[in-house]
Amino acid sequence: MNRRLAAGAAVVGTAAALVLSGCGADEEEAPSGAGTIGVAMPTETSERWISDGQTLAAGLEEAGYDVDLRYAGDDTAGFKQADQVQAMIDGGAELLIIAAVDGAGLGDQLKAAAAQDIPVIAYDRLLLESDGVDHYVTFDNYAVGVAQATSLLQGIGVVDDDGEPTGDEGPYNIELFAGSLDDNNAHMFWEGAMDTLAPYLEDGVVKVPSGQTEIVAAETWRWSKDLAQDRMESLLAQFYADGTELDGVLSPYDGVSRGAITALALDGLGPKIADGMPVVTGQDAEAASVKLIREKMQYSTVFKDTRLLADAAVAAALAYLEGGEPEVNDTETYDNGVKMVPTYLLGVSTVNRGDIDEVLVDSGYYTDDEITVG
Ligand code: BGC
Repeated sequence: MNRRLAAGAAVVGTAAALVLSGCGADEEEAPSGAGTIGVAMPTETSERWISDGQTLAAGLEEAGYDVDLRYAGDDTAGFKQADQVQAMIDGGAELLIIAAVDGAGLGDQLKAAAAQDIPVIAYDRLLLESDGVDHYVTFDNYAVGVAQATSLLQGIGVVDDDGEPTGDEGPYNIELFAGSLDDNNAHMFWEGAMDTLAPYLEDGVVKVPSGQTEIVAAETWRWSKDLAQDRMESLLAQFYADGTELDGVLSPYDGVSRGAITALALDGLGPKIADGMPVVTGQDAEAASVKLIREKMQYSTVFKDTRLLADAAVAAALAYLEGGEPEVNDTETYDNGVKMVPTYLLGVSTVNRGDIDEVLVDSGYYTDDEITVG
């Protein structure tokens, strides 16, 4: 077993930090165990990817593998992730688990991996435009979008707890945010959300005063909190300065939600939902957003249990390394432009204020302290 990553998640956290700090990922010491698995994660600016990386490393270590875990700092301009994955291949990785920054940005590396029979597992984000991806583990991304839009409609009162129309005809004003368009998930979230909102938009129960109902206009490049704040500020200045009320914001990710909420709070619309803060959705149950949900600033988040996703990726990796095939439960949804990628899908759940304790604390995802304000 790798001496750096031997003793569970706490040690793994330290080891991952070591790999990433100081002399940097590229000068990492040579692996010591029987085989090395390369784990490429997109960024540390989002809590979820940090814990995904740690859980993956812990699971692989427990199975006796060394782990080369690298974070790409969301960088595409400098090709950082491509360089990292190339270094993993050159360093003799037996298998790669990749959550891409840019889904279509690793073509050369995937080709090199295929040429050396290195299995590649796409982790949460589909690897696009390449036949060098063998397996995909993810959550039901369309269902995430459906959950976000349903929660938005529930929050403003247009549908009930079961998602059925309440008969409230509004009209309610909403604005729409999408994720980063080089991430296939952003498109799936949007599709699920827009299919859910469509009947209410068509009937005029829900309106988008900015008219920005195309994904390109709603994009948040790199899922950036700051860009979301900027866009929300400019939407408020352009379309709400005359006193038009904003009732809801469809947000695909908690960081984007917090950007929008910051703009809304600065605009004097906050601070609490009951006092006029629009209903804002989210995703990932990030601690900072769970606190905002407790504080009634953010309405909901979609929880994806990344522990289960990491377990599924580790199981798939071990299946390949032991000469077998991983479990698949979807062979029809994830066409990456070149091939239909065999997929293992996990479910998602919406977390409202009242669900926090049961879903996030009782399950051990967070301690109460981690999501308590103050
Ligand atoms: C993931 C989301 C995450 C987003 C931003 C997406 O690919 O599926 O869980 O919120 O990236 O990191």
